[in-house]
Amino acid sequence: MTSPRSLIHVADADALAAAAAQRLMARIDANPGRVAICLTGGSSPKRLYELLATPDYAKAIPWDRVHWFIGDDRFVPQDDHLSNIGMARATFLDALAPRDHVHPIPTDAADPDTAARAYETTLKQFYGGTTLAASKPLFDLVLMGIGPDGHTASLFPGYPAIEVRDRWVVGVPLAHVAPFVPRVTLTLPALASCREMLFLVSGADKREIATRALTDDTLPAARARSHHETIWLIDTDATPERLDVA
Ligand code: 6PG
Repeated sequence: MTSPRSLIHVADADALAAAAAQRLMARIDANPGRVAICLTGGSSPKRLYELLATPDYAKAIPWDRVHWFIGDDRFVPQDDHLSNIGMARATFLDALAPRDHVHPIPTDAADPDTAARAYETTLKQFYGGTTLAASKPLFDLVLMGIGPDGHTASLFPGYPAIEVRDRWVVGVPLAHVAPFVPRVTLTLPALASCREMLFLVSGADKREIATRALTDDTLPAARARSHHETIWLIDTDATPERLDVA
């Protein structure tokens, strides 16, 4: 069973970052215990991460009980400009989060599948079990983006990874969209194990693929759903012209 998808329209990229930060804080406030946030990569979340580093949020986030994961990464060193966790660490995590609360995909492993298996072990240890239960989500919040081909995380249309059900994390030997480097990605079942899945869809360059993903349920960005709440934060420039799809 997958949750219906809700759209929240915002004016622009700044409003989208503010709305995402507010939803992240709401998820933290809703869980008095240990919180797990799964970050996304690419450029879309950058303004959000910058916002989280500002004094208001830096003071409001209970850093001692929030853990930070990444939904996918490029198979590059963390200090490489292509690294998703590297961008998040440089933008806010290294300055604010306890080091052992930041859980990168080990992209220094021998190969993407080795990294994937190691990260799956990390997730299972954090979860306290090897089987995901819809009643016990792994994450409080999963942030997601959408790529020009309708991919999300590093789940590309037509690639085997999108159909994997028996793994939480898999390697992707080659990407068919930039950056053309191997990836490591959580699978749909692992990404679905959350209280909220929040897509960040901003900018005119996303309008065409957003329109497609809102009408074509075969695309990975359409198939990715939370077992609980799936929300698209979409700004005016990215909103489909035909309002009946949005
Ligand atoms: C990645 C991301 C990917 C991203 C989309 C959108 O590793 O690239 O996880 O899924 O979210 O490609 O990227 P932009 O935000 O840069 O448009």
